[in-house]
Parts: sequence; C-alpha cells; structure tokens
Amino acid sequence: MNGEIIFDYADAGDFVKKHELDALETQVLAAHETLHRYEGPGREYLGWLGWPLHCSREDVDKIARVAAQIRERAEALVVIGIGGSYLGARSALELLSHSFYNQLPREKRGGPRIFFAGCNLSATYLAHLWDLIDQQDLVINVVSKSGNTLEPALAFRFFRNMLEKRYGKKGARERIIATTGEKGSLRRLAQQEGYETFTVPGDIGGRYSVLTAVGLLPVAVAGIDIAEIMTGARRGCRLYDEEKLTDNPAYLYAALRQILYRKGKIIELLASYEPSFSLFTEWWKQLFGESEGKDQKGIFPAGVSFSADLHAMGQFIQDGYRNLFLTTLWLEKPPQDLEIPPLAENIDELNFLTGKTLHHVNKQACAGTIMAHSSGGVANLKIIIPEMTPRCYGQLVYFFEKACAVSGYLLGVNPFDQPGVEAYKKNMFALLNPK
Ligand code: PA5
Repeated sequence: MNGEIIFDYADAGDFVKKHELDALETQVLAAHETLHRYEGPGREYLGWLGWPLHCSREDVDKIARVAAQIRERAEALVVIGIGGSYLGARSALELLSHSFYNQLPREKRGGPRIFFAGCNLSATYLAHLWDLIDQQDLVINVVSKSGNTLEPALAFRFFRNMLEKRYGKKGARERIIATTGEKGSLRRLAQQEGYETFTVPGDIGGRYSVLTAVGLLPVAVAGIDIAEIMTGARRGCRLYDEEKLTDNPAYLYAALRQILYRKGKIIELLASYEPSFSLFTEWWKQLFGESEGKDQKGIFPAGVSFSADLHAMGQFIQDGYRNLFLTTLWLEKPPQDLEIPPLAENIDELNFLTGKTLHHVNKQACAGTIMAHSSGGVANLKIIIPEMTPRCYGQLVYFFEKACAVSGYLLGVNPFDQPGVEAYKKNMFALLNPK
C-alpha cells in the first residue's frame, strides 16, 4: 500500500474471463478517444475532465478565504441545494470530518455547524431545522447552477426572509453567498442584492461539480484542506488519463461493469464498511444513475452499508435473484481504531478477540462476506482506499467521474445529460400552475 487507491477485481474472476476483457480493449480505447477529443455526446459538458489541472489557484484561494471568514463569524452554515448541488459537499463532509461534527462543542469543531436544506419539499424538515438554528448566527450558501430549481429556490425564499427579519436587508446580504451559473435568476438576484458569489462553470454539469465551489466552499468551512482535495484530484487526472485499459484502473472498473451488465447483472451495489460512506454512496448513485440510466438502458446503482445491511439485505444479496454485483469500498486505515478489551469470565465467549482491533474484525467481516458472495454467485469488485485523507477523497472522486464517463460511452448513452429528470418537473409545474 503506497498511499494510492487500488482497484482490485480478483474476486470477479469466476464471472469475468480474460478474453472478455481483451475484447473490450478497442471499445474502451474508442471511448477514451471520443472523450479526450471532445467528440462524443455531451462534449459541451466536459469541463470537469481537466478541471483539477486547469482550475485557477486564485479561485481555490478565494474559496478558502471566504470559508475562513464564515468559520470565524457564523455559528451555523446552511447549504441550500439539491442533486449535484448538494450531494458532493455533504458526502465530503461526512467522509472527512468527525462522525458527529455538528454535535461537537465549538472549540473541537473549529467552525460553524453545517446543515443542508433545499434538498426536499418537506415543511417538517425546514421547520425542525429552524427550531435547531433559531438562536444561532447564520450564514447561507445557496447553490444552484441553473438558479431556478424549485426545491432550493423555495428554501432560499424562506431563509432569505428569515435573515432579513433578523438582521435587516444589509445584514442579510452580508450573510448570503450564492454559488451559481453565469446566467439565471439566482445570478440576477445576487447581482441585484450584491451577494458574494462563486461561479459554477457552464461546462461542468451538477453531478460532476463537487470539485468546484459547489463542493469546496462548504467543505472548507468545516476546516478541510481543499488544496489537498485538488492535489488528489490532479493525481487522479494524471493516473486515469492512461488510454490502455489494463493500465487504467478507472477504465478497468468501467469495462468490468459492462461485462457484468451484458451478462444480466443489472444492479450494482456499492458496499462500504464505514458508515461515513453513506452520503458518498448517494453521490455515486446520482453520478452513475443520472449518467447511465437512459434509452431504457443502464445499471441500477444502489448502496449498502455493512455490516448493518448484512443483517438486513444480506439474505437477498447472498441468495436472492441473481441480477446484481457488488463494488466494495474498503478503507484500509480508518481514522480511528480500538483494541478489544478482555471480559472477566468470558461471558460473551468473545475473549478470543481480546487484543485484536475492531478494524481487524471489520476486515475479516469484509473478507468473509466477499467469499460468501462469490460462492453465492455474486461478483465483487473492490476499491481499496489507503486512508480517508482529503487527497484520497479528491482522487476517488476523479476515479468515479472518469469511470462513469467512459462507462456511459461504452453503454452508448450521453453520460452528461439528464432528459428524464424533466418529466416530473413538467407535470408538477402543470399541476401547481394550471393555465
Ligand atoms: O446533476 C445535475 O445536473 C442535477 O442533479 C442538478 O445538480 C440538480 O438538479 C440541481 O440543479 P441546479 O444546480 O441547477 O439547482
């Protein structure tokens, strides 16, 4: 283990033959060239591809500067956004900060509590959030590339009213930061009101935007080193640029998914053994679900959190309908480990574990689960993350972004649009505003 993310498909062996991988080599190369020559569908949204290498140092510095001011002054930051304007930031916070960050005392957190809104239409959720932050000095980061998505736009209305009532128009203005595209109603409002703004580049779609201010600002407010995230992303950018399938772990992952899909494995379960991956799983689900699920095709992305889900979904995975495969995210060195203490008289009969660590037990649970799944007819792919540092996080994000783009091209879809999302919106607006 040399600090690098490892993609391991040894446990897919019985389900994928070498000649199947060889047969995909030319298709992967074609997908790589299509992507890198900006010739494929969705080419107008390829800003993310070179973003870690090309984004300006000043932009990252400005994010860090504004974040430092928020850390200094605010007791609570509310990030308003949905989909790609929310999941990246939330998942990074969950992975890179304390499991109970918001519950820690201020001196341990070092920054404000961080909450999310605008990611649903629940009045109860908003009202309960207000109960919690009622007395706290607030800063709002409203994030919407288009500036007109209903859920964040409505949540922002409520929060803006609340801030203006509490601090007056000027005080509210100083507490609102808008992260938005170059055009749109939020941009116009921000200009009119004089809010601090960050720009979401026009050529980076929502689900590929976590490495822009969309994700980086909230993460920096939690005190996470965003320059390190970008260093990891740059590393990913270089590593996963390799055109040869067998030399590029991101392409291997994309190709193996395709082989399994073509054999009827239409569900991929992202499995993790640390609960801090639960929002990352949601981010990954959006990335792959919105990128691939179109033209009546695609692998259905789902997630499980082990070992909890071994006691819930384990039966189905082991023994149910054989149309799924697993991709395990394994964290080699978790931020904390605990040695198991002895128990007098060995009443629970677990003294054979005394002196071992909880992570060691977790590791055996992972190994045992993969063995059981393999014998139960479930292929396992594995991504080994050496440590959950900002650098590894940046690399992991880029790994999945690159794999997803190539996977979409292998599937023959446009991985950068989301026409299906419009269907519910059209109906909802027609119901809300009948002409
Ligand atoms: O990936 C996407 O494009 C979507 O999930 C968007 O991020 C989501 O719909 C929010 O859009 P916006 O940032 O325009 O409010």
